[in-house]
Amino acid sequence: MLTMPGSPDPCVIVIFGASGDLVARKLIPALYEMAACNALPEQTRVLGVSRTEMTDEAWRERLQPWVKEHAARFDESTWARFATRLHYLSGSAADADIYPGLTERITSLSNGAKSGGNILFYLSVAPSLYEAIVERIGESGLVTEGRKWCSIDRDNVPWQRIVIEKPFGHDVESASRLNLALGRVFEEDAIYRIDHYLGKEIVQSLLVFRFANTIFEPLWNHRYIDHVQITAAETLGVGHRAAYYDGVGAIRDMIQSHLLQVLALVAMEPPTTFAAHHIRQEKIKVIDAIEPTPIDRLHEFAALGQYAPDEHEPAYHLSDGVPHDTTTETFAALAFRFDNWRWADTPFYLRTGKRMASKRTQIVIQFKQPPVQLIRHLHQLEVGPTPPGNQIVIEIAPRGGVSLRFQGKVPGSGVRLDTVAMDFDYADRFQAEPIESYGPLLIDAMRGDQTLFPHRYEVEGTWRAVAPFLGEESATIRRAIHANYEPASWGPAAADVLLQRNGRTWVNG
Ligand SMILES: NC(=O)c1ccc[n+]([C@@H]2O[C@H](COP(=O)([O-])OP(=O)(O)OC[C@H]3O[C@@H](n4cnc5c(N)ncnc54)[C@H](OP(=O)(O)O)[C@@H]3O)[C@@H](O)[C@H]2O)c1
Repeated sequence: MLTMPGSPDPCVIVIFGASGDLVARKLIPALYEMAACNALPEQTRVLGVSRTEMTDEAWRERLQPWVKEHAARFDESTWARFATRLHYLSGSAADADIYPGLTERITSLSNGAKSGGNILFYLSVAPSLYEAIVERIGESGLVTEGRKWCSIDRDNVPWQRIVIEKPFGHDVESASRLNLALGRVFEEDAIYRIDHYLGKEIVQSLLVFRFANTIFEPLWNHRYIDHVQITAAETLGVGHRAAYYDGVGAIRDMIQSHLLQVLALVAMEPPTTFAAHHIRQEKIKVIDAIEPTPIDRLHEFAALGQYAPDEHEPAYHLSDGVPHDTTTETFAALAFRFDNWRWADTPFYLRTGKRMASKRTQIVIQFKQPPVQLIRHLHQLEVGPTPPGNQIVIEIAPRGGVSLRFQGKVPGSGVRLDTVAMDFDYADRFQAEPIESYGPLLIDAMRGDQTLFPHRYEVEGTWRAVAPFLGEESATIRRAIHANYEPASWGPAAADVLLQRNGRTWVNG
């Protein structure tokens, strides 16, 4: 059953880190777009908080050019109306002194707009500040009924929720420490860990593809599927973000957060309904079923790389701001296996990299070969190498679409096979424009819909899954990592070996 979304509750959105990049480039343009299409309740107010001294008017003036540049459509009169809903308070959110003033501003905005006392906190600050700010919010007394909003009559009791940006922790320990800190102030139902990469559209399309059709699901298991590949490739390098990136790397930046979420959606059991708690329950179950990787055989499960130089960019390890002996990966291919009924012996290969041959995010479902190669037996002289098994390729970006690839007979007197495809392209079929995902996600938080926001167990489970590839023991797979793949390639040779070991190959198109 597809649950119908309720309408968003009006609230005061308190954004910590208001003078920052994310707020200007993404959050305010997204809220503007939501206001422009009447999705943002009229009584909602935004209160930005950061240390830079500014008036409400100065913050609005600073944001206007960003909204003009980044919102899908800009219109002066819509902006003028929207801007009156933006307010600003200067001060450090990690400092208890600002909270009496903050409480006063929230109350006055809420009363003035009749937004019902609801508060949506948004942490758009450096992760090192998350815990301190959450603690201050707790001490301030601002979080009252939010702790139990879901168990009582929502209509009459104001709620308080918190949206928290990625990265959510750096490893298992820091993620669970942060979860504990959040849990001391907010119920899990009030915590929204945002991951805008997996936009609403993508997740819902995947769920519909799997569970609104009968032809795929009976085959969606180890009996028919040989393996699954999930790729997120970028053509750009780290550029001026090298110093920041070096503390992170491809596994933390892409695999722990984004690609393991895609894996969970592909691998999970059908949820009872499309309600958030049912979907999240299934994702938690399947993430829990990922087999721990044996640390003495890491090379059988991982291939890591750093890009080599070309005329556009230096080798990663020679980038400005990076220690030249760095072993941080700009490419990672990891194999995961499940210890569960559906996926026993069906590996999932996750791959991501910078400076790759093309920008592409896709899922490849690689089916097994037929039990007997009848055609080959019958026409031994006329058929070439074994054709690839059937594939379903779900392209997430740059275009959304699905391609079903199978074998067809080439017309003529002999029996020659060729791979043919049945293609579905979202943009062609629905003429739909992509929507910036922050807007719909913020509206979801205002509706109390957590479908797109990972549960604490998902976050901790995905950190556990990648931990062996990040710890000291991963030194063995980081040897000889410098410049081990060419720009505009599909990664280091070790990534091919990872699949070839089991007679498989990457699908790159
Ligand atoms: N930018 C992106 O595209 C992006 C994408 C995904 C996730 N994120 C995450 O989003 C968060 C924000 O990123 P960002 O790129 O916007 O960072 P940023 O440009 O550095 O902005 C953070 C802002 O926090 C403010 N700040 C610092 N200390 C503060 C305090 N004690 N109280 C209140 N405000 C404080 C700073 O302004 P003042 O100096 O005025 O206080 C600064 O403008 C980070 O966690 C990041 O990982 C960002």
